[in-house]
Amino acid sequence: MEDHPERRVPRSAIVPADDHRPRHVAVIMDGNGRWARERGLPRIEGHRRGAQSVRRVVKACADAHIRYLTLYAFSTENWRRPPGEVRALMELLERFLKERLGDLKKHRIRLNAIGDLERLPASVRQTLDRVCRATSSYTEGVLTLALSYGGRAEIATAVRRIAREVRAGRLDPDRIDENTVTAHLDTAGLPDPDLIIRTSGEMRLSNFLLWQASYAELWVTSTYWPDFTEQEFFRAIDDYSRRRRRFGGVADA
Ligand code: FPP
Repeated sequence: MEDHPERRVPRSAIVPADDHRPRHVAVIMDGNGRWARERGLPRIEGHRRGAQSVRRVVKACADAHIRYLTLYAFSTENWRRPPGEVRALMELLERFLKERLGDLKKHRIRLNAIGDLERLPASVRQTLDRVCRATSSYTEGVLTLALSYGGRAEIATAVRRIAREVRAGRLDPDRIDENTVTAHLDTAGLPDPDLIIRTSGEMRLSNFLLWQASYAELWVTSTYWPDFTEQEFFRAIDDYSRRRRRFGGVADA
């Protein structure tokens, strides 16, 4: 656990030199349900408050010049939740997309989505398409929403895509390497995450970006997602900027 609430980090301190700043931050937003239960509120109230945290973190990323932000908003496993909760989450997502389009435009952030998007309700898919198209020319930042997403399913889909190319005679099986797999994932074109933040204290990846997370730094806080503040986000970035990443090699002397 790397949460030090006593250490408050001023915003200026977390816009360090480019080489110490993560290029890509991914977040496992967890604890909405527990946040609500502890307050005697319905779970959806936790998700509603969680949507406000999303807004804060998108802005914090723009302020800190972190170019890529990926949020685990709905997993393949989340379809097993009660239908009322799934419906409420989809409505919340759609409302978020409609209401936040202005912010994305203001910060010139492109919206991107990964996952089995075909499973989403038609109106969510249409709104998602519309916002992705409306922001497609922006290059200041990329906000990726993982929706109906599972890391294993993504890898299986990539394998199917590769197999089809082999069958069509466009790809020699002996030339398949890590880059081939990377290029066939939903995240093709995005850099691997440098930092993965998880809220609510669980020490798991929960099927999130399994291939891409190989060398990601992990930062876990016990804070529930609805309580996750800009200040805490900056603390995670500050902590990341002090780490030495070796990628399996040895640290510089
Ligand atoms: C985990 O909390 C969170 C989710 C399953 C959904 C995340 C959704 C949001 C933050 C709101 C909408 C998203 C966007 C992008 C606007 P949990 O319900 O698993 O919490 P628990 O583990 O305490 O039950």
